[in-house]
Amino acid sequence: MELPFDGAISAFYENDAPREVRDAIARADRDEVLDPGFPYSERMARKAYERELERLQIELVKLQYWARRTGARVAIVFEGRDAAGKGGTIKRFRANLNPRGARLVALPKPSDTEATQWYFQRYIDHLPAGGEIVFYDRSWYNRGVIEHVFGFCTPEQREYFFAQVPDFERMLVAEGIHLFKFWLNVGRAEQLRRFLARESNPLKQWKLSRIDVEGLAKWPDYSAAIAETLERSHTDHAPWTVVRADDKRRARVAAIRHVLSQIDYDRKDARAVGASDPSIIGGPDIWPD
Ligand code: ADP
Ligand code: MLT
Repeated sequence: MELPFDGAISAFYENDAPREVRDAIARADRDEVLDPGFPYSERMARKAYERELERLQIELVKLQYWARRTGARVAIVFEGRDAAGKGGTIKRFRANLNPRGARLVALPKPSDTEATQWYFQRYIDHLPAGGEIVFYDRSWYNRGVIEHVFGFCTPEQREYFFAQVPDFERMLVAEGIHLFKFWLNVGRAEQLRRFLARESNPLKQWKLSRIDVEGLAKWPDYSAAIAETLERSHTDHAPWTVVRADDKRRARVAAIRHVLSQIDYDRKDARAVGASDPSIIGGPDIWPD
């Protein structure tokens, strides 16, 4: 198997990473949050996290029952830089759900045939049927960020995407689909720390790709593309929810709580759902810091 990332992350860390990023990682112990702008200096304690997560997961089970009873459809989009924690958050959402009604959609790059289709077409194929909750690990927003940063689409294609995306999402919402769009925001030091962990862990190496390695030097390009994407696709009918994700535990809890708080499912326990933490989750105004 090809290992395009072999040693490339640590080489970047040692030779190319900005000094403040290197210093933050060098200082980091397990519980420290690396981003100086993060509202907490420590990660959420494991016990509190597990207790909280379990309460919320019980509510998610009720949400799924409700969706199956009523035929409701829920689509949740997870976006964010590589290693922002999209996959891990989706895993916690789905942990106790019936997998048949809680589908994961993580599409590979478009095939030659798909590349000739309307850009949204292959994502539409995976929209929820009645009773389903669908989790998109990356989505049509690839065109706003990754495809732009790596030159996989032309500027014209991207403009066309921005012109169409509000109408596309308006149709989904008008159709009655409960649409959520999460942007998980990870800081540069924390992202690099997670990449280093993946590089040195044989069980996590599969998560690294050429995109991740080549993306290391493209941080500012990503930042500009993300800011533009949030600005041009944050609408009243399909708003972005931005989550500060340097602390994975707080991010997961905040995202689950947000979905629960927006839907009136049967036997909802408002106390278990709790109130969101505005320093962790909010609109695009909390990105960037
Ligand atoms: P992930 O972070 O989702 O595990 P990667 O970091 O390898 O995967 O890729 C990021 C995204 O870029 C994926 O959604 C992938 O489909 C997309 N991508 C990779 N190569 C291309 C390409 N040549 N054209 C369009 N999209 C691509
Ligand atoms: C994430 O952790 O954000 C993604 O699901 C995996 C990745 O970064 O490649």
